[in-house]
Amino acid sequence: MTFSGRRVVLGVSGGIASYKACTVARRLTQAGASVDVVLTTSGAEFVRPVTFEALTGRPVLTSLWDRGRALDHIRLAQDADLMVVAPATANLIARVAQGIADDVLSAILLASPGKILLAPAMNDKMFANPATTKNLDILAARGWKTVGPAVGDLAEGESDQPGRMSEPEEILVEAERLLRSGGPLEGKRVVVTAGPTREPLDPVRIISNRSSGLMGFELARAAYAMGAEVRVVAGPTVASPPIGPILIRVETTDELARAVAEEVQEADMLIMAAAPADYAAVDVSTEKKPRGEGTISLVMKSTPDVLQSTSGRRKVGCYCIGFALETGDGLDRAREKMHKKNLDMIVYNRADQEDGGMEGRNNKVVLLTGSSEKDLPVMSKREVAEEILQTALIDA
Ligand code: CTP
Repeated sequence: MTFSGRRVVLGVSGGIASYKACTVARRLTQAGASVDVVLTTSGAEFVRPVTFEALTGRPVLTSLWDRGRALDHIRLAQDADLMVVAPATANLIARVAQGIADDVLSAILLASPGKILLAPAMNDKMFANPATTKNLDILAARGWKTVGPAVGDLAEGESDQPGRMSEPEEILVEAERLLRSGGPLEGKRVVVTAGPTREPLDPVRIISNRSSGLMGFELARAAYAMGAEVRVVAGPTVASPPIGPILIRVETTDELARAVAEEVQEADMLIMAAAPADYAAVDVSTEKKPRGEGTISLVMKSTPDVLQSTSGRRKVGCYCIGFALETGDGLDRAREKMHKKNLDMIVYNRADQEDGGMEGRNNKVVLLTGSSEKDLPVMSKREVAEEILQTALIDA
């Protein structure tokens, strides 16, 4: 959604990580961006221009002297919504920090009035060199953003120091965040809970529920893309956590309650998408209970209502969103929960509806606030997350 119809210039300088720029170019194009790749001479030694032309469906700029394209670099710099440089080598970083524009990519970067994201990639010693640190500080002071570098394998072998270029997925997450920067969630602290909790019966058996964690993770992802500082408190999930937000793993409802009580104190927004187990066993056996014949009975006690218990702990002005998972027509029950738990919004969804609720990729929800009711059609959980946040921002 974010990249659709946007103009992105992807600068590729020469390092072994240049091959990963192909994935960045492809993903941006698939997301609907118009991608102009600008290759340095050494970048073109690693990946041929024709590869990027095939991936983006657009001509690639490799030199200031391409015939008939003399002013293209200035036009590209001015028209771009975002510039991403991946990989950004130590040499490129040094040249642009000093204002040198001796090739097409450095010239575009110097002429760019807009948002720039660098993905540095180099030998770990080169990255640790004070010259590189200083050059990156200069660029940061100019408002340029960086992603990575990460710790991990380099072309020359393993390293436990940063130097390796961030993975394309991570670069795309930061590119989206930069593109969307300047909105109302920028710099705000958002706490999201996700997934089920599980309560032990003995060392091997648990009681849990079907929550995959996807809805909460999509909310965390969307809030991060909108510029928020996001903490996600998650139980054991099937879905993978999003890149960007800080992840706090918990197992039981008690652990969730403790983590949320801690995190909510600084939260500007709390989104309780988790499905905590409502009951825990009174006696948890330390030994695996042997299998027997016939039936067994479990004595269980209710767990704390995490959301309700935050009511007195929330920061003044904290916008609070809960979920109500119901079977049958539960709109009134959802509204009751909203008042009882002192919420600004409740997301009503049905556990007994196809394409709704816990396990799928889609959801069908009604968003209830103090002043509005929005009955949404079936959508992907990613789209639902956007709708929830947009509605919250209007309502807040
Ligand atoms: N919730 C919570 N702590 C619990 C149970 C639920 O914080 N122990 C939160 C959920 O994350 C959700 C909201 O409360 O945001 C409503 O959850 P739901 O399961 O629909 O309702 P319950 O309060 O558990 O009530 P019931 O099971 O009776 O429907």
